[in-house]
Amino acid sequence: MASELLKSFKTSGAVAFSSPRLVKRIIKNIDFSHASRIIELGPGNGRITDDLLHLMRKDATLFAFEVNKSFCDDLEKLNDPRLKVFNESAAHIREFVGSDTHDGITYIVSSIPFGILPESECDKIMQSIHDISDEKTTFIQYSYSLIQYRRYKKYFPHLKVQFELINIPPAFVFVGRQ
Ligand SMILES: C[S@@+](CC[C@H](N)C(=O)[O-])C[C@H]1O[C@@H](n2cnc3c(N)ncnc32)[C@H](O)[C@@H]1O
Repeated sequence: MASELLKSFKTSGAVAFSSPRLVKRIIKNIDFSHASRIIELGPGNGRITDDLLHLMRKDATLFAFEVNKSFCDDLEKLNDPRLKVFNESAAHIREFVGSDTHDGITYIVSSIPFGILPESECDKIMQSIHDISDEKTTFIQYSYSLIQYRRYKKYFPHLKVQFELINIPPAFVFVGRQ
């Protein structure tokens, strides 16, 4: 619910969930035929998650890390066996996903509000993302400004930036590879 987003502004960093146009722009960067593992960070109530599940392969897995328990309860209601919900910070991905073996490509779809989190937490999360990434991984992150560009570029040097106007507020989508 949008009211939950406002209530938890200190961790959500947003006044509205992603618009359908922003979700579409994010998802266009995924080659679902080769995506065996998708890791979603900060899924909220599942605006992006729902579309990912619709397009994902039957044998793919979607790991969702969300710190807000109320949003985790919403995600569980999607009731899809391919979706694994963790009420955990994105700083701990490896503890839950690290040993998973897979043949295809890993996509990391992140809504983490880096702009409002303490610097040390941002570093832990980026390190955690990097630890489970390889040369085939694609990192997709949206942000409301370009301020975080250097942070993402440090871990994903091949970084492209896209822009979506139809969102509150308008958003940049960063797409990175190692
Ligand atoms: C801007 S909202 C995005 C919600 C949804 N993905 C969307 O695009 O509409 C950011 C989400 O990140 C979650 N979040 C913040 N810090 C987090 C962390 N360290 N680990 C996992 N989730 C986090 C918040 O609880 C919130 O649901």
